[in-house]
Amino acid sequence: MDEYKIKRIEEGLTKIEFPEFEKVSSEAPVFYNPHMELNRDLSILAIQVFQKEEDREINICDLFGGSGIRGIRYKNEISGVDNVAINDISELANEYEKHNIELNDLENIEVYQHDASMFLRMKRGEFDVIDIDPFGTPSPFLDSAGYCARRNSLLCVTATDTSALCGTYKEPCIRKYNAKPYKSEYCHENGIRILAGFVALTLAKYSKCIDIKMSHSTEHYMRLYIKIEKGSKKSDESLKNMGYISHCSNCLHRQTSYGLASAIEETCPVCGEKLIHAGPLWLGNIQNREFIQKMIDETEHKKINTEKEALKLLNSCLNEATAPATFFDVHSICKSLKISAPKLDLIFEEIQNNGFIAIKTHYNPLGIKTDANIEEIKRILIQLSKE
Ligand SMILES: C[S@@+](CC[C@H](N)C(=O)[O-])C[C@H]1O[C@@H](n2cnc3c(N)ncnc32)[C@H](O)[C@@H]1O
Repeated sequence: MDEYKIKRIEEGLTKIEFPEFEKVSSEAPVFYNPHMELNRDLSILAIQVFQKEEDREINICDLFGGSGIRGIRYKNEISGVDNVAINDISELANEYEKHNIELNDLENIEVYQHDASMFLRMKRGEFDVIDIDPFGTPSPFLDSAGYCARRNSLLCVTATDTSALCGTYKEPCIRKYNAKPYKSEYCHENGIRILAGFVALTLAKYSKCIDIKMSHSTEHYMRLYIKIEKGSKKSDESLKNMGYISHCSNCLHRQTSYGLASAIEETCPVCGEKLIHAGPLWLGNIQNREFIQKMIDETEHKKINTEKEALKLLNSCLNEATAPATFFDVHSICKSLKISAPKLDLIFEEIQNNGFIAIKTHYNPLGIKTDANIEEIKRILIQLSKE
């Protein structure tokens, strides 16, 4: 440890030290990413809400510890936490994790050095919360998480391989998530649904099913908070939420079809063009209003440096909970109509005046989640552009 110049930072109520590095990268001696503070702050809110809902002491596993900041913050800043296990395959990371535990004067945190999957398999059924925050894809670790996870536990999953999930290249997504992506204007939402679908299918092998409490796509990553329940009947039922999203790149119509092996319409019912399918993916809820409202309320009791950003995101996700899958990008539609885009507020107002839902989305400031179809939206946009 002595060979490094040490940097100290503070997040929430916690101090952390690690070897100074020039650029955030997996090459850093011990990994710390300041851009993930929002992710960690939201995790504290989500796990605290989960702990209060369960109304019992919880054990947490921080599977990819790095500097230890996540697991240490969980023990230091969440009430009702019994034990925290911090695991990392790197010996140097382990040394800093132990150092940072001492720095914050904490007990009941153990540090482990194992491959993540091996660690979960050794610790089957011991954790109430499993946090998976790896470099890139969580895919190789989800099977062991499915094996290890107990009934009524919380699984927190980060994926930073957004280009795969969003379909920049389709092969990596097929390889890692066994699903076909599609790079549409709502590809980040599709990406979250592909990741959620992959978690659901993986856990179903162990007769476990998912109930998504909150999800978001921010900067370079996607994050899911999932309550895990157990039972083969429940799992069968839950898999009925799997399906496909089909998109028409000609007229921008999109539609969902439920079922893993049911027939999917091949041509666009609006313009007759060939539809492009993405999936299998999760078509069920990806936001839970009640849980997110509790996360918002919890901000009053926590020291969260990213509070403004966190509240903006949480309020957006809260509203999205009642909206249908996918969203429309106003500029893409106006471009296809060769008209200039009317003011966003006017578009929302007019869609609602026509009796439809119109909800903003955190995925895109120009996005509209609505139950109006593409023809109705185009009609409204043309009418507004004439006024
Ligand atoms: C993205 S960093 C974790 C960041 C940390 N969770 C945080 O919030 O700052 C990923 C960590 O996983 C560790 N790691 C990589 N492969 C691993 C594996 N197979 N099993 C366990 N740890 C692994 C790396 O040493 C690195 O510290």
